[in-house]
Amino acid sequence: MAEQINPWSSVPKVNIERLFEDFGIEQFEPQKEKIQNLPAFMRRNIIAGHRGYDAISDAIVNKKPFHVLTGFMPSGHPHFGHLMVMKEVVWHINQGGQGFISMADREAHAVRGLSWEKCDEYAREYMECLYALGFKGEIYSQRRNNSLKDLAFEAATKINFSELSAIYGFGADTELAHAVSVSMQVADILYPQLSAGVAPTVVPVGIDQDPHIRLTRDVTNSLRMFLIEDRGTHISIRAKNASPEAISAVAKRFVGSKKYEGHIDLPEKIGLSVSEVDTIVRKTEQELGGFGFVLPSSTYHSFLMGLSGGKMSSSVPESLVWFDDEAPSVKKKIMGAVTGGRQTLDEQKKLGGEPDKCSIYQLNKFHMEDDDKELNEMCRACKAGELMCGTCKKQTLEKVLNFLKDFKEKRDEVSHMIEW
Ligand code: TRP
Repeated sequence: MAEQINPWSSVPKVNIERLFEDFGIEQFEPQKEKIQNLPAFMRRNIIAGHRGYDAISDAIVNKKPFHVLTGFMPSGHPHFGHLMVMKEVVWHINQGGQGFISMADREAHAVRGLSWEKCDEYAREYMECLYALGFKGEIYSQRRNNSLKDLAFEAATKINFSELSAIYGFGADTELAHAVSVSMQVADILYPQLSAGVAPTVVPVGIDQDPHIRLTRDVTNSLRMFLIEDRGTHISIRAKNASPEAISAVAKRFVGSKKYEGHIDLPEKIGLSVSEVDTIVRKTEQELGGFGFVLPSSTYHSFLMGLSGGKMSSSVPESLVWFDDEAPSVKKKIMGAVTGGRQTLDEQKKLGGEPDKCSIYQLNKFHMEDDDKELNEMCRACKAGELMCGTCKKQTLEKVLNFLKDFKEKRDEVSHMIEW
């Protein structure tokens, strides 16, 4: 049986290859051929996997509407570990996506026990960072968004306790609010389609959030009134949650169709593809009061290695740099970071360093070095034993301090945009 992923664990267990196989996540690599001017996080394979990204790359290439949404739990200050997802959201907006951010204050309150005031305080910091990076779109609070709460309730009609226990390991002692926050996240992921029209939606997240994506994709299917099946010789439209009136309404849309009690068959000569039929059925569902949502898509980025080795986690302060960290503290963390260096200088000159195991190299690869040539040179010089850790750390420290200074200025420039 596949292992569970716990999205609320501070140190998620991740063996990416294994997870991808167990859970049917697709490799991102083939998508790269479709997109022009790949951003660094795609060129460098930081985005490793996806679900349903074809719908998004297709929308980008053909300039069709799509949405991008992600969420942040405002349970602490934002830090470098949040930067990748923020950049992904902004990049998708620049490719034509409509942007949405959920401030998951209900999740922070239910799961981490934060007061609403604290949630608002942290939420403002996340918003400032997002705007500073160029975010455009809607940022909402889970607890203040009424249509989101209604959608969460509808979603909850399609989720039962055995699913919650299979997916998250919820048991008899799990608080109901925790389960409610799960249905809130399902609603978050579907919300752009409710608010701005049915369209593919990409949700950039870390792999730890995949359980929510899987559950949402299941709920999306369960909310449909009809299921379209390709039967080879014909297309069959099966009624799942459809009244006899709805079945008649759909049958009327297809001249030459045959209506049965629980399904409608379309002969081959009708000349429509499965996706064309699906679009028509979806529209009809909406006219009849249904949602007709399309399956949401996702991307999974690999995690940035913590400066103290292991995972970057806010529960391990030395493992990360906060966006409002003071220079002396940043210096201490960078200069004390775990690297891929050898025991002695001599050994390092002889054997070279190991960038794959180095938190400083990873930091450059993820965020601090945009130029591929420079990054490759850094990697080469390290492996060749020419670049020593002390020098490399100093150079990186310089870049991090510049970034933080620049980011602070940008945040100050956009702080007036926050109404919270
Ligand atoms: N659960 C996410 C976290 O722990 C936050 C979140 C809430 C989210 N709603 C979302 C992420 C919707 C992606 C999509 O960080």
